[in-house]
Amino acid sequence: MKLLHQSGLMDMTPKGIVIIGSGSQGRMLQNLFKQYKLGYQFLGFLDDQHQKYEHNGQFFEAPIDYYQELLEDDVHFFLAIGNVEDRMKIASHLKIPTEKYAIIVHPKAYVDPTVELSHGVYVSAHASIMHDVTIGEHTSIQSGAVVEYESRLNSFVNISPRATLCGNVQIADQVFIGAGATIIQGLTVAEKSIVGAGAAVIRDVPENHLALGVPAKNNMRLRSPNLYVTSRMDLGAQLEK
Ligand SMILES: CC(C)(COP(=O)(O)OP(=O)(O)OC[C@H]1O[C@@H](n2cnc3c(N)ncnc32)[C@H](O)[C@@H]1OP(=O)(O)O)[C@@H](O)C(=O)NCCC(=O)NCCS
Repeated sequence: MKLLHQSGLMDMTPKGIVIIGSGSQGRMLQNLFKQYKLGYQFLGFLDDQHQKYEHNGQFFEAPIDYYQELLEDDVHFFLAIGNVEDRMKIASHLKIPTEKYAIIVHPKAYVDPTVELSHGVYVSAHASIMHDVTIGEHTSIQSGAVVEYESRLNSFVNISPRATLCGNVQIADQVFIGAGATIIQGLTVAEKSIVGAGAAVIRDVPENHLALGVPAKNNMRLRSPNLYVTSRMDLGAQLEK
């Protein structure tokens, strides 16, 4: 995992940025760049709902594979795709060098200067990330979430609004933490697991498990966790017998 310090971003010359995904997350980022700039100039969206390159005078829209035309330019990219499985598939299909993915931190977030953020990370408004935290590629920290000291979050993780990770928590790849959930200090949530909204996690969560409730129970093993979260399939069908 390649990690960067946040301050490495503070280049004065605005760079072009292209958002991959023109859904709600992509449009939210477009508005963010309009309002705050953040050292970037928004150039356009790549999304396969667009058949061909078109420019409306302010920004372009084009199919995803148009990225190849932009690789030689001094352009950064950002994956604004909520579904983690799709985000991973597109990231591996695109072959965009890691360093060409932007790190986006909302100006109303607090990120301690010791925090290390990887490429493709998004930190939303009112999130707080405290000292010596590390965050892996394409991980998203949503509004008002708190990530306390020395926690380590891997890649393609989603931390939903107002979730709290107490100190020294370890979050593995592709974990989804629901809104308002709390993980107490020193715990691990293993790969591809889901913590439901509002859960209080007081024990480690094993790989591919669903943890729900207060205190959270971890005894539900998922067959296809990302599919489960994103397509809201029937819980019974998704749990291993
Ligand atoms: C866990 C979760 C994924 C389950 O979704 P679902 O499959 O649609 O679940 P259902 O609403 O069908 O509920 C299935 C059962 O689980 C229970 N349940 C669902 N979510 C729960 C939660 N967060 N805590 C406790 N129990 C929960 C329901 O009460 C129901 O129990 P029952 O069968 O005894 O009635 C979802 O409830 C959740 O917490 N999602 C996180 C949302 C979020 O944080 N989004 C942030 C986006 S930025």
